[in-house]
Amino acid sequence: MADIEFTIPRLKAMKQRGEKIVVLTCYDASFAVMLEAAGVEVLLVGDSLGMVIQGRETTLPVSVDEMVYHTRCVVRGRRRSLVLVDFPFLSYADAGQALATGARLIKDGGGHMVKLEGGASQVENVRRLTAQGIPVCGHLGLLPQSVHLLGGYRVQGRDEEGAARIRADALALEAAGAGLLVLECVPERLAAEISRDLSIPVIGIGAGRQCDGQVLVLYDMLGISSGRCPKFVKRYGREGGDLQSAVSAYARDVKEGRFPGPEHGYS
Ligand code: KIV
Repeated sequence: MADIEFTIPRLKAMKQRGEKIVVLTCYDASFAVMLEAAGVEVLLVGDSLGMVIQGRETTLPVSVDEMVYHTRCVVRGRRRSLVLVDFPFLSYADAGQALATGARLIKDGGGHMVKLEGGASQVENVRRLTAQGIPVCGHLGLLPQSVHLLGGYRVQGRDEEGAARIRADALALEAAGAGLLVLECVPERLAAEISRDLSIPVIGIGAGRQCDGQVLVLYDMLGISSGRCPKFVKRYGREGGDLQSAVSAYARDVKEGRFPGPEHGYS
């Protein structure tokens, strides 16, 4: 297995230097090779694969076995990037289950870091996983695995109570040992405050321009996913040129602060 060039300490150093971190979802070996060559530093094996690969309506039916399978595929293609893997829905309901699932994603799948959705309810899981040497990325704001509870895919943290909860959750996840945080669909001002207040890198998706890095669902940014495309997506694949040029343009735009633009954020 090749060494990881974009280790968690290196990502943290990038944040300290103000260097943006480039993240995309990835589900197979061929794209892993291509994304790295185009400048992507973290490959997220997202449970969004349930929607863009499997054609399901939500991420909820994705299984641990399916995540392990796609993680193995990505790991075979990557050379330098960090492979971040989603815990699928209901595979981390308590610390025992989270450890068992984490073991599968890391030992069987070969991933380097796991991502879980939720705030205060996940603090104990983050503590237990990191205590066992499994790096954890939090995910706050819009939580796709809670879509039915939230009543749809909506911007979160627009009211003061919601914003305060997300702020407190972010600090609690960092204190519990999380090494990264994904913030999805929150107002730009809230994401900016959280990015400033945390020492760990904050990766935004629909969270405005001030986060420490950006992530998109690969098929959305290539413009090949069906259905409604959220406002925060720029469809690089629809601008002409080949796939690698589209991903390179995304990586350059993130690095140089051109993506996202003001039109991709929420107030
Ligand atoms: O599953 C996924 O693709 C994700 C991104 C939306 C961040 O979690």
